[in-house]
Amino acid sequence: MTSAYNVQAMRRILLLVMTVIGIVAVLLLVRTFLLGRQSAPRDQEPSAESVHIIFCAGGAPSEIELWQSLLDDFARENPGISVELRQLPADSDQQHAYYTTLLGSGQPDVDVMRLDVIWVPEFVDAGWLAPLDASALETNDFLSFASRVDSYRGVWFAVPWNVDAGVLYYRKDLLHEAGIDRVPETWRELTDAVRRIRRLENAPREGFVWQGRQYEGLACVYLEQVMSRGGSLDPRDEFARGAHLEALTYLRALIERKLSPANTASAMDEERAREMFQNGDAVFMRNWPYAWSLLNAEYSPVAGKVGIAALPRGKGGASTGALGGWHLAIPVTSAHKEAAQGLIVFLASAKVQEELAARLNWLPTRLSVWNSPQLAQMAPQVMALKEVAPTATPRPAIPSYPALSLAVQEIVSGVLVGRLSPDEACDRLEAKLKEFR
Ligand code: GLC
Repeated sequence: MTSAYNVQAMRRILLLVMTVIGIVAVLLLVRTFLLGRQSAPRDQEPSAESVHIIFCAGGAPSEIELWQSLLDDFARENPGISVELRQLPADSDQQHAYYTTLLGSGQPDVDVMRLDVIWVPEFVDAGWLAPLDASALETNDFLSFASRVDSYRGVWFAVPWNVDAGVLYYRKDLLHEAGIDRVPETWRELTDAVRRIRRLENAPREGFVWQGRQYEGLACVYLEQVMSRGGSLDPRDEFARGAHLEALTYLRALIERKLSPANTASAMDEERAREMFQNGDAVFMRNWPYAWSLLNAEYSPVAGKVGIAALPRGKGGASTGALGGWHLAIPVTSAHKEAAQGLIVFLASAKVQEELAARLNWLPTRLSVWNSPQLAQMAPQVMALKEVAPTATPRPAIPSYPALSLAVQEIVSGVLVGRLSPDEACDRLEAKLKEFR
């Protein structure tokens, strides 16, 4: 009895000693971690060996894959730096919400960001972007729009990584079978072509797919519709009621007359439209150049059957695509600005832009790349868009653009779902645009 009691007592003492040792060990670990953090604060560039930077970006699966391999190349060429890709959703609005929350908190942990062209004025205005060392970036080589978007009083806060322009994709095989000998040049010709192709036995289930969900993609589609009818979305311009009315009536009719999918207003973004078109389920698609390489991938049911052209125009206007694209910038809070700048120099270099053009069908932002004979060889499809890119129309470059866009999207979406008539929507648009003057 006494010896059993002794054994039990010994066990308890042992347990107690082990627990105390465990607690001390955890405390020591936490202390070491905290001391480690204090000795390498984020506002001091640590030794070359230990620099770890975070590159934040969202995109289509093929883009993510290529970016990762580019980051690996960069890390190999710069042994002291490791780069982590923080993947964001592909949707531009979701990325905007992420960045505004993160940067607004004052403690972002990212070093290089991929920003939609439309946010650059807003982010510069908010004081969120660090000035770049332009001398290392050959800024004179960028297309002329870059200096208007990215540099303020001679200081560059971002650089363009790719330029986007809305374009029309079409099924060459179906146009041919229906006896249509040229790609539609007006919006009317496009709907006529859909109707004719519908009569074919093997006609796809949908006609024209485009970005109709209430988000930034819809603002781009609407801009193209209005501009191609001689109007504008810039609050500083006079409100062209006729162009807005026609644009709204046309978009609503596409859905009502089943020329576009029934879920256009609730679900259609770039990727949903691309998947549907790629699956062989649509005749025409409005999208950005990135879709090209995916549509023609080996596994794609429509590979080799797709053409790409400028978007059609309406009455009294000229064909135009919305000017899109993504820019690279460093948040003012980055602790590793030197390494981050190095990554931007690498990613925006002519060599990398050639690879992005060849593998992702991205439109380059450097004149030297557009003029290089290699581009024509490596990416003939990109060269075919050489005329489209310069005619692209920018969205109003004002710091309050995101708020303006939200208002426009809401009104246009109201028409698409039948909640507002095109006339009511025009009244609202006119009043709204005035508020942003
Ligand atoms: C593309 C464009 C971008 C635009 C977005 C809308 O990613 O490059 O500028 O805002 O589409 O969905």
